[in-house]
Amino acid sequence: RAKREAEISRHSQALETANTLYRQQLRTATAAVSYLKGRGLSGEVAARFGMGWASGDRQGLSQVFPTYDDPLLVEAGLVILSEDGRRYDRFRERIMFPIRNGRGHLIGFGGRIVGKGEPKYLNSPETPIFSKGTELYGLWEAKQAIRSAGQVVVVEGYMDVVALAQMGVEHAVATLGTATTPVHIQKLLRASDNVVFAFDGDKAGRKAAWRALEACLPLLRDDVSLRFLFLPDDHDPDSFIREFGLEGFRAALRDATALSQFMLGELAERHRMDEAEGRARCVHDAKPLLQAMPAGAIRLQIQRELATLTRLTPEELGQLLQLQDVPSG
Ligand code: UTP
Ligand code: MN
Ligand code: MN
Ligand code: MN
Ligand code: MN
Repeated sequence: RAKREAEISRHSQALETANTLYRQQLRTATAAVSYLKGRGLSGEVAARFGMGWASGDRQGLSQVFPTYDDPLLVEAGLVILSEDGRRYDRFRERIMFPIRNGRGHLIGFGGRIVGKGEPKYLNSPETPIFSKGTELYGLWEAKQAIRSAGQVVVVEGYMDVVALAQMGVEHAVATLGTATTPVHIQKLLRASDNVVFAFDGDKAGRKAAWRALEACLPLLRDDVSLRFLFLPDDHDPDSFIREFGLEGFRAALRDATALSQFMLGELAERHRMDEAEGRARCVHDAKPLLQAMPAGAIRLQIQRELATLTRLTPEELGQLLQLQDVPSG
Protein backbone atom coordinates (compact mmCIF):
# COMPACT_ATOMS: atom_id res chain seq x y z
CA ARG A 1 0.00 0.00 0.00
CA ALA A 2 2.71 2.47 0.98
CA LYS A 3 4.70 1.18 -1.99
CA ARG A 4 1.74 1.85 -4.27
CA GLU A 5 1.40 5.39 -2.92
CA ALA A 6 5.10 5.97 -3.55
CA GLU A 7 4.73 4.65 -7.10
CA ILE A 8 1.80 6.95 -7.84
CA SER A 9 3.62 9.89 -6.42
CA ARG A 10 6.85 9.20 -8.37
CA HIS A 11 4.97 8.88 -11.66
CA SER A 12 2.68 11.76 -10.92
CA GLN A 13 5.58 14.07 -10.15
CA ALA A 14 7.21 13.23 -13.47
CA LEU A 15 3.93 14.00 -15.27
CA GLU A 16 3.59 17.29 -13.37
CA THR A 17 7.08 18.26 -14.45
CA ALA A 18 6.17 17.56 -18.07
CA ASN A 19 2.91 19.45 -17.70
CA THR A 20 4.72 22.50 -16.35
CA LEU A 21 6.60 22.63 -19.63
CA TYR A 22 3.49 21.97 -21.73
CA ARG A 23 1.55 24.73 -19.99
CA GLN A 24 4.36 27.19 -20.33
CA GLN A 25 4.72 26.37 -24.03
CA LEU A 26 1.03 26.99 -24.71
CA ARG A 27 1.46 30.67 -23.83
CA THR A 28 3.66 31.25 -26.86
CA ALA A 29 2.27 28.61 -29.22
CA THR A 30 0.36 30.95 -31.50
CA ALA A 31 -1.09 28.28 -33.80
CA ALA A 32 -2.42 26.26 -30.85
CA VAL A 33 -3.83 29.33 -29.12
CA SER A 34 -5.66 30.48 -32.22
CA TYR A 35 -6.96 26.95 -32.76
CA LEU A 36 -8.41 26.93 -29.22
CA LYS A 37 -9.82 30.43 -29.64
CA GLY A 38 -11.37 29.31 -32.91
CA ARG A 39 -13.13 26.59 -30.96
CA GLY A 40 -14.51 29.18 -28.57
CA LEU A 41 -12.24 28.46 -25.62
CA SER A 42 -10.88 31.16 -23.37
CA GLY A 43 -7.50 31.24 -21.66
CA GLU A 44 -9.25 30.95 -18.30
CA VAL A 45 -10.88 27.64 -19.17
CA ALA A 46 -7.65 26.32 -20.71
CA ALA A 47 -5.88 27.25 -17.47
CA ARG A 48 -8.58 25.69 -15.31
CA PHE A 49 -8.03 22.36 -17.05
CA GLY A 50 -4.26 22.83 -17.02
CA MET A 51 -4.10 22.53 -20.80
CA GLY A 52 -0.77 22.82 -22.54
CA TRP A 53 1.18 22.46 -25.75
CA ALA A 54 3.76 19.81 -26.60
CA SER A 55 6.14 21.32 -29.15
CA GLY A 56 7.53 19.53 -32.20
CA ASP A 57 10.92 19.14 -30.53
CA ARG A 58 11.75 15.41 -30.53
CA GLN A 59 13.33 15.62 -27.09
CA GLY A 60 11.49 18.65 -25.76
CA LEU A 61 11.21 17.14 -22.30
CA SER A 62 15.00 17.20 -21.90
CA GLN A 63 14.48 20.87 -21.04
CA VAL A 64 12.82 19.92 -17.75
CA PHE A 65 14.29 16.47 -17.00
CA PRO A 66 18.02 16.57 -16.28
CA THR A 67 18.34 12.83 -17.06
CA TYR A 68 16.31 12.27 -20.20
CA ASP A 69 17.22 8.56 -20.25
CA ASP A 70 15.70 7.97 -16.79
CA PRO A 71 13.59 4.77 -17.27
CA LEU A 72 10.82 6.48 -15.30
CA LEU A 73 10.05 8.71 -18.30
CA VAL A 74 9.42 5.64 -20.46
CA GLU A 75 7.43 3.91 -17.70
CA ALA A 76 5.29 7.02 -17.26
CA GLY A 77 4.52 7.06 -20.99
CA LEU A 78 6.21 10.40 -21.63
CA VAL A 79 9.14 9.08 -23.64
CA ILE A 80 9.22 6.33 -26.24
CA LEU A 81 12.23 4.02 -26.37
CA SER A 82 12.63 2.82 -29.96
CA GLU A 83 14.07 -0.56 -30.90
CA ASP A 84 17.41 0.95 -31.83
CA GLY A 85 17.67 2.41 -28.33
CA ARG A 86 16.82 5.99 -29.20
CA ARG A 87 14.46 7.98 -27.04
CA TYR A 88 12.00 10.66 -28.05
CA ASP A 89 8.95 12.47 -26.65
CA ARG A 90 5.65 10.62 -27.12
CA PHE A 91 3.66 13.85 -27.40
CA ARG A 92 4.76 16.26 -30.09
CA GLU A 93 2.82 19.11 -31.70
CA ARG A 94 -0.28 18.40 -29.69
CA ILE A 95 -2.63 20.29 -27.42
CA MET A 96 -2.29 18.57 -24.08
CA PHE A 97 -5.11 17.63 -21.73
CA PRO A 98 -3.81 16.49 -18.32
CA ILE A 99 -5.84 13.62 -16.81
CA ARG A 100 -6.15 13.46 -13.03
CA ASN A 101 -7.48 10.69 -10.82
CA GLY A 102 -10.22 11.24 -8.23
CA ARG A 103 -7.72 12.57 -5.73
CA GLY A 104 -6.18 15.07 -8.10
CA HIS A 105 -3.01 13.18 -8.92
CA LEU A 106 -1.85 13.61 -12.49
CA ILE A 107 -1.96 10.14 -14.07
CA GLY A 108 -1.83 10.68 -17.82
CA PHE A 109 -2.42 12.90 -20.83
CA GLY A 110 -4.53 13.13 -23.91
CA GLY A 111 -3.06 15.10 -26.80
CA ARG A 112 -4.98 16.53 -29.75
CA ILE A 113 -3.40 17.19 -33.05
CA VAL A 114 -4.02 20.68 -34.44
CA GLY A 115 -5.57 20.37 -37.84
CA LYS A 116 -5.47 17.12 -39.77
CA GLY A 117 -3.48 13.98 -38.92
CA GLU A 118 -3.63 10.59 -37.27
CA PRO A 119 -4.45 9.76 -34.62
CA LYS A 120 -6.59 12.77 -33.77
CA TYR A 121 -6.12 12.08 -30.07
CA LEU A 122 -3.09 10.36 -28.64
CA ASN A 123 -3.42 9.14 -25.07
CA SER A 124 -0.91 8.02 -22.49
CA PRO A 125 -0.35 4.27 -22.72
CA GLU A 126 -1.54 1.99 -19.93
CA THR A 127 0.98 2.54 -17.14
CA PRO A 128 1.19 1.30 -13.55
CA ILE A 129 -0.93 4.31 -12.54
CA PHE A 130 -3.09 4.90 -15.63
CA SER A 131 -5.84 2.71 -17.00
CA LYS A 132 -8.24 4.16 -19.56
CA GLY A 133 -11.07 1.81 -18.71
CA THR A 134 -11.41 3.09 -15.17
CA GLU A 135 -10.67 6.81 -15.30
CA LEU A 136 -12.98 9.68 -16.12
CA TYR A 137 -11.52 12.83 -17.61
CA GLY A 138 -12.50 15.95 -15.68
CA LEU A 139 -13.94 14.21 -12.62
CA TRP A 140 -11.53 15.86 -10.25
CA GLU A 141 -12.03 19.30 -11.83
CA ALA A 142 -15.82 18.87 -11.79
CA LYS A 143 -16.24 17.55 -8.26
CA GLN A 144 -17.58 20.74 -6.72
CA ALA A 145 -19.85 21.51 -9.67
CA ILE A 146 -21.25 17.95 -9.62
CA ARG A 147 -22.18 18.41 -5.99
CA SER A 148 -23.90 21.74 -6.52
CA ALA A 149 -25.68 20.64 -9.72
CA GLY A 150 -26.71 17.37 -8.09
CA GLN A 151 -25.89 15.72 -11.40
CA VAL A 152 -23.01 14.42 -13.49
CA VAL A 153 -23.03 14.50 -17.30
CA VAL A 154 -20.96 11.87 -19.13
CA VAL A 155 -19.61 12.71 -22.57
CA GLU A 156 -17.21 11.05 -25.01
CA GLY A 157 -14.50 13.61 -25.52
CA TYR A 158 -12.03 15.92 -23.85
CA MET A 159 -13.26 18.79 -25.99
CA ASP A 160 -16.83 18.14 -24.96
CA VAL A 161 -15.90 18.51 -21.28
CA VAL A 162 -13.92 21.68 -21.86
CA ALA A 163 -16.47 23.28 -24.21
CA LEU A 164 -19.35 22.53 -21.82
CA ALA A 165 -17.37 24.12 -18.96
CA GLN A 166 -16.70 27.14 -21.14
CA MET A 167 -20.43 27.53 -21.72
CA GLY A 168 -21.33 27.08 -18.05
CA VAL A 169 -21.94 23.34 -17.73
CA GLU A 170 -19.15 22.51 -15.32
CA HIS A 171 -20.38 19.13 -14.14
CA ALA A 172 -19.34 17.04 -17.15
CA VAL A 173 -16.77 14.24 -17.35
CA ALA A 174 -15.58 12.05 -20.23
CA THR A 175 -14.74 8.43 -20.77
CA LEU A 176 -11.34 8.23 -22.40
CA GLY A 177 -12.14 6.83 -25.82
CA THR A 178 -13.22 3.51 -24.34
CA ALA A 179 -16.58 1.93 -23.66
CA THR A 180 -18.20 2.81 -20.35
CA THR A 181 -17.22 0.14 -17.81
CA PRO A 182 -18.78 -0.98 -14.52
CA VAL A 183 -15.88 0.76 -12.75
CA HIS A 184 -16.86 4.00 -14.48
CA ILE A 185 -20.44 3.55 -13.30
CA GLN A 186 -19.27 2.91 -9.75
CA LYS A 187 -17.26 6.13 -9.79
CA LEU A 188 -20.12 8.09 -11.32
CA LEU A 189 -22.65 6.87 -8.77
CA ARG A 190 -20.24 7.70 -5.98
CA ALA A 191 -20.07 11.25 -7.34
CA SER A 192 -23.83 11.69 -7.86
CA ASP A 193 -27.11 9.76 -7.81
CA ASN A 194 -28.14 11.53 -11.01
CA VAL A 195 -26.20 10.58 -14.14
CA VAL A 196 -26.92 11.73 -17.70
CA PHE A 197 -25.04 10.15 -20.59
CA ALA A 198 -24.63 12.56 -23.49
CA PHE A 199 -22.70 10.78 -26.20
CA ASP A 200 -22.19 11.87 -29.80
CA GLY A 201 -25.28 11.76 -32.00
CA ASP A 202 -23.61 9.50 -34.53
CA LYS A 203 -23.95 5.72 -34.82
CA ALA A 204 -20.88 5.14 -32.65
CA GLY A 205 -22.37 7.36 -29.94
CA ARG A 206 -25.64 5.43 -29.95
CA LYS A 207 -23.75 2.19 -29.65
CA ALA A 208 -21.73 3.67 -26.79
CA ALA A 209 -24.99 4.60 -25.05
CA TRP A 210 -26.23 1.02 -25.24
CA ARG A 211 -22.91 -0.27 -23.88
CA ALA A 212 -23.22 2.24 -21.03
CA LEU A 213 -26.75 1.01 -20.33
CA GLU A 214 -25.45 -2.55 -20.08
CA ALA A 215 -22.72 -1.44 -17.68
CA CYS A 216 -25.34 0.31 -15.52
CA LEU A 217 -27.66 -2.68 -15.07
CA PRO A 218 -25.84 -4.46 -12.22
CA LEU A 219 -25.69 -1.19 -10.29
CA LEU A 220 -29.30 -0.10 -10.76
CA ARG A 221 -30.90 1.13 -7.58
CA ASP A 222 -34.32 2.55 -6.91
CA ASP A 223 -32.82 5.80 -5.64
CA VAL A 224 -30.71 6.70 -8.67
CA SER A 225 -31.57 8.46 -11.91
CA LEU A 226 -29.79 7.26 -15.06
CA ARG A 227 -30.68 9.05 -18.29
CA PHE A 228 -29.56 9.24 -21.89
CA LEU A 229 -29.45 12.37 -23.95
CA PHE A 230 -29.56 11.66 -27.68
CA LEU A 231 -28.13 14.50 -29.69
CA PRO A 232 -28.94 15.15 -33.36
CA ASP A 233 -26.98 12.90 -35.71
CA ASP A 234 -24.25 15.36 -36.62
CA HIS A 235 -23.67 16.82 -33.15
CA ASP A 236 -21.62 16.14 -30.08
CA PRO A 237 -22.07 18.09 -26.81
CA ASP A 238 -19.39 20.60 -27.88
CA SER A 239 -20.95 21.43 -31.24
CA PHE A 240 -24.47 21.26 -29.80
CA ILE A 241 -23.93 23.76 -27.00
CA ARG A 242 -22.14 26.14 -29.33
CA GLU A 243 -25.04 26.00 -31.77
CA PHE A 244 -27.98 25.96 -29.34
CA GLY A 245 -26.42 27.66 -26.32
CA LEU A 246 -26.55 26.92 -22.62
CA GLU A 247 -30.34 27.01 -22.53
CA GLY A 248 -30.58 24.62 -25.45
CA PHE A 249 -28.28 22.16 -23.75
CA ARG A 250 -30.11 22.50 -20.43
CA ALA A 251 -33.41 21.80 -22.15
CA ALA A 252 -31.89 18.72 -23.78
CA LEU A 253 -30.67 17.54 -20.37
CA ARG A 254 -34.16 17.95 -18.94
CA ASP A 255 -35.61 15.95 -21.83
CA ALA A 256 -33.09 13.11 -21.52
CA THR A 257 -34.53 9.60 -21.85
CA ALA A 258 -34.84 7.44 -18.73
CA LEU A 259 -32.85 4.20 -18.78
CA SER A 260 -36.02 2.09 -18.72
CA GLN A 261 -37.46 3.94 -21.69
CA PHE A 262 -34.23 3.66 -23.66
CA MET A 263 -34.01 -0.06 -22.93
CA LEU A 264 -37.62 -0.92 -23.74
CA GLY A 265 -37.74 1.40 -26.74
CA GLU A 266 -34.62 -0.16 -28.18
CA LEU A 267 -35.89 -3.71 -27.57
CA ALA A 268 -39.17 -2.89 -29.28
CA GLU A 269 -37.39 -1.28 -32.21
CA ARG A 270 -35.15 -4.29 -32.75
CA HIS A 271 -37.98 -6.77 -33.16
CA ARG A 272 -41.18 -7.24 -35.11
CA MET A 273 -43.52 -6.55 -32.21
CA ASP A 274 -46.55 -7.15 -34.44
CA GLU A 275 -45.63 -10.83 -34.74
CA ALA A 276 -45.61 -13.58 -32.10
CA GLU A 277 -42.08 -14.58 -33.15
CA GLY A 278 -40.81 -11.03 -32.79
CA ARG A 279 -42.32 -10.65 -29.32
CA ALA A 280 -40.87 -14.02 -28.27
CA ARG A 281 -37.46 -13.00 -29.51
CA CYS A 282 -37.80 -9.70 -27.68
CA VAL A 283 -38.32 -11.58 -24.40
CA HIS A 284 -35.34 -13.74 -25.29
CA ASP A 285 -33.13 -10.68 -25.79
CA ALA A 286 -34.47 -8.90 -22.72
CA LYS A 287 -33.76 -11.86 -20.45
CA PRO A 288 -30.02 -11.29 -19.88
CA LEU A 289 -30.65 -7.58 -19.36
CA LEU A 290 -33.20 -8.15 -16.61
CA GLN A 291 -31.10 -10.92 -15.14
CA ALA A 292 -28.22 -8.46 -14.81
CA MET A 293 -30.38 -6.16 -12.67
CA PRO A 294 -30.59 -6.55 -8.90
CA ALA A 295 -34.03 -7.17 -7.44
CA GLY A 296 -35.87 -3.98 -6.65
CA ALA A 297 -38.76 -1.78 -7.61
CA ILE A 298 -37.18 -0.59 -10.83
CA ARG A 299 -36.68 -4.15 -12.08
CA LEU A 300 -40.32 -4.91 -11.26
CA GLN A 301 -41.43 -1.79 -13.10
CA ILE A 302 -39.45 -2.71 -16.20
CA GLN A 303 -40.71 -6.27 -16.00
CA ARG A 304 -44.27 -5.02 -15.94
CA GLU A 305 -43.77 -2.77 -18.96
CA LEU A 306 -42.02 -5.57 -20.83
CA ALA A 307 -44.99 -7.85 -20.11
CA THR A 308 -47.35 -5.33 -21.70
CA LEU A 309 -45.02 -4.84 -24.64
CA THR A 310 -44.74 -8.57 -25.31
CA ARG A 311 -48.41 -9.28 -24.55
CA LEU A 312 -47.70 -11.67 -21.68
CA THR A 313 -49.07 -11.62 -18.18
CA PRO A 314 -46.51 -10.49 -15.58
CA GLU A 315 -46.64 -14.06 -14.19
CA GLU A 316 -45.89 -15.66 -17.56
CA LEU A 317 -43.04 -13.24 -18.14
CA GLY A 318 -41.71 -13.81 -14.63
CA GLN A 319 -41.51 -17.55 -15.33
CA LEU A 320 -39.66 -17.00 -18.60
CA LEU A 321 -37.15 -14.59 -17.07
CA GLN A 322 -36.14 -16.80 -14.12
CA LEU A 323 -34.95 -13.79 -12.15
CA GLN A 324 -32.85 -14.27 -9.05
CA ASP A 325 -33.85 -12.49 -5.91
CA VAL A 326 -30.57 -10.60 -5.49
CA PRO A 327 -31.31 -7.36 -3.69
CA SER A 328 -29.78 -4.10 -4.86
CA GLY A 329 -26.83 -2.56 -3.06
P1 UTP B 1 -14.23 12.29 -31.00
O1 UTP B 1 -13.54 12.08 -32.30
O2 UTP B 1 -15.72 12.31 -30.99
O3 UTP B 1 -13.59 13.50 -30.23
O4 UTP B 1 -13.69 11.19 -30.01
P2 UTP B 1 -14.04 15.00 -30.10
O5 UTP B 1 -13.85 15.40 -28.69
O6 UTP B 1 -15.35 15.25 -30.71
O7 UTP B 1 -12.88 15.63 -30.93
P3 UTP B 1 -12.83 17.05 -31.59
O8 UTP B 1 -14.08 17.77 -31.26
O9 UTP B 1 -12.67 16.84 -33.06
O10 UTP B 1 -11.60 17.65 -30.99
C1 UTP B 1 -14.14 11.17 -28.67
C2 UTP B 1 -13.03 10.76 -27.78
O11 UTP B 1 -12.49 9.52 -28.20
C3 UTP B 1 -11.10 9.46 -27.94
C4 UTP B 1 -10.75 10.76 -27.22
O12 UTP B 1 -10.86 10.55 -25.82
C5 UTP B 1 -11.81 11.70 -27.72
O13 UTP B 1 -11.97 12.79 -26.85
N1 UTP B 1 -10.31 9.37 -29.18
C6 UTP B 1 -10.78 9.84 -30.36
C7 UTP B 1 -9.05 8.80 -29.11
O14 UTP B 1 -8.61 8.38 -28.03
N2 UTP B 1 -8.30 8.75 -30.24
C8 UTP B 1 -8.74 9.23 -31.44
O15 UTP B 1 -8.00 9.18 -32.44
C9 UTP B 1 -10.03 9.77 -31.49
MN1 MN C 1 -17.40 10.63 -32.29
MN1 MN D 1 -16.09 17.17 -31.11
MN1 MN E 1 -17.13 13.96 -30.67
MN1 MN F 1 -32.22 -10.81 -31.19
